[in-house]
Order: sequence, then C-alpha cells, then structure tokens
Amino acid sequence: MISVPIVTVDGPSGAGKGTLSAALASKLGYRYLDSGALYRLLALASERHKVALDNQHALVVLAAHLDICFEYNAAEGRTQILLEGEDVSRQLRTESVAIMASELAVHVGVRAALVERQRLFALAPGLVADGRDMGTVVFPEARLKIYLTASAEERAARRYKQLLEKGDNVSLRAVRLQVDERDQRDTERQVAPLRPADDAIQIDTSEMSADAVLLQLLEITVVKGLLT
Ligand code: C5P
Repeated sequence: MISVPIVTVDGPSGAGKGTLSAALASKLGYRYLDSGALYRLLALASERHKVALDNQHALVVLAAHLDICFEYNAAEGRTQILLEGEDVSRQLRTESVAIMASELAVHVGVRAALVERQRLFALAPGLVADGRDMGTVVFPEARLKIYLTASAEERAARRYKQLLEKGDNVSLRAVRLQVDERDQRDTERQVAPLRPADDAIQIDTSEMSADAVLLQLLEITVVKGLLT
C-alpha cells in the first residue's frame, strides 16, 4: 500500500504530459516519474544486447536486470538518464526509440517487470507520474488523476517542433505518421491500453499554452488539497 500523495498524468504522445508533469512536480515539491523513459531505456538496452522486440522472455530478463540511474546534474540544470553508466538522455528522445518502446510495451511480462520499478518512485513527500497507465494500473489509488489530450494535428506539430529543436532532421508528415502509429498501438494493445481512468479529469490542451495548462492544474491541486 502506497501512502504518499500521487498525481498521475496520462495521455497520448505529444499531449504535453512531460513538460507539464515536471513543472507540476516542481511546484508541489514532489518527485517526478517519466514512466515512458523506462520503456525507452529497455528499448535501447534490447538494441544493445541484440534482443528482439518480440522475444518476451528475454525482454523480461533484461528488464529485471536493467542498470539505470536518474541523476540530477545541478551544473546543467537537467536530469541525466544513465544506462549501464552511460548518459543516454539525448538518444532516448528519438522517435525511433519511442517506436521500439511501444513495440515492447505490448508484452504483459515486460509491463509487470517495469511496473514494479515504477512503484519504487512513490516516496515522500509525493510523486507526479506521467505515462499511459499511471492512473489505471500503476497507481490506481492516486489522489489526483489527469488525462491530457490534444488533436492529432496539434500533437504531431508539437512533437515535430520538439524534434527540430533537438536537431533531428525530420518532416512533419513523417512525425504525424509515427505519432499515429504509436498511438494506435498504445490504444489497441491487450494489456494496460491507453485510456482515461474512470475518475480522471480530462483536459483538451489543443488550444492552450503550456502555462495555461499548468495554471489550470495548479487550481485543481488546490481544490484537491494538495497545494495550499
Ligand atoms: O511517454 P513516451 O513517449 O516516452 O513513451 C514511449 C512509449 O512507451 C509509449 O508510446 C508507450 O508505448 C510506452 N509506454 C507505456 N506505458 C507507459 C509509458 C510509456 O506503454 N506508462
């Protein structure tokens, strides 16, 4: 039984979950879990160790032994993500790694192994967790559940902008196709498909700035008694 307050933020790719969850965690003084990073790390590890994305047994073994570390680098003001001691933060954000992550995320055994790791992040004073199944499967007892959406066009455009800013050479059309493919796989999979929890508050961010979404969320946390 997890006793610390938890806020979950789920939704499809490009809905703005990452930026918003990190900002909310910082305002609340809570820890932040980017659960997608765990799926991405396993994807990268599977590539390095030449494990096929349909080999569930080998992926589960790999997930159980995944040597990862989230380290805050004060000098650079960012969290470094290490895989087997190497900083892979940048590599993790590519769309090809995201697609591999969504392919291995369909396996029930892989999800079970990663869910255990995700629950370990629920430590005092509290946690903001972002992903696809945070409110439905991983933290069903969360104090506040948010489900962020935006139109497919808007999400692809945001993702495209993010990738360009990181220096990736991509086209908007290619990004739209990749985002659609990933969303379809995430929504249609048998285990823990992407869907809002029954008690989630849904926010459509298509026409909202990141600041406006954060403001709305902060108002909700005040109403819920998480922020005074
Ligand atoms: O959130 P992010 O884009 O980093 O996630 C990459 C992929 O990992 C998703 O498309 C999804 O398939 C998988 N994922 C998941 N459950 C989560 C977080 C991510 O299945 N809680």
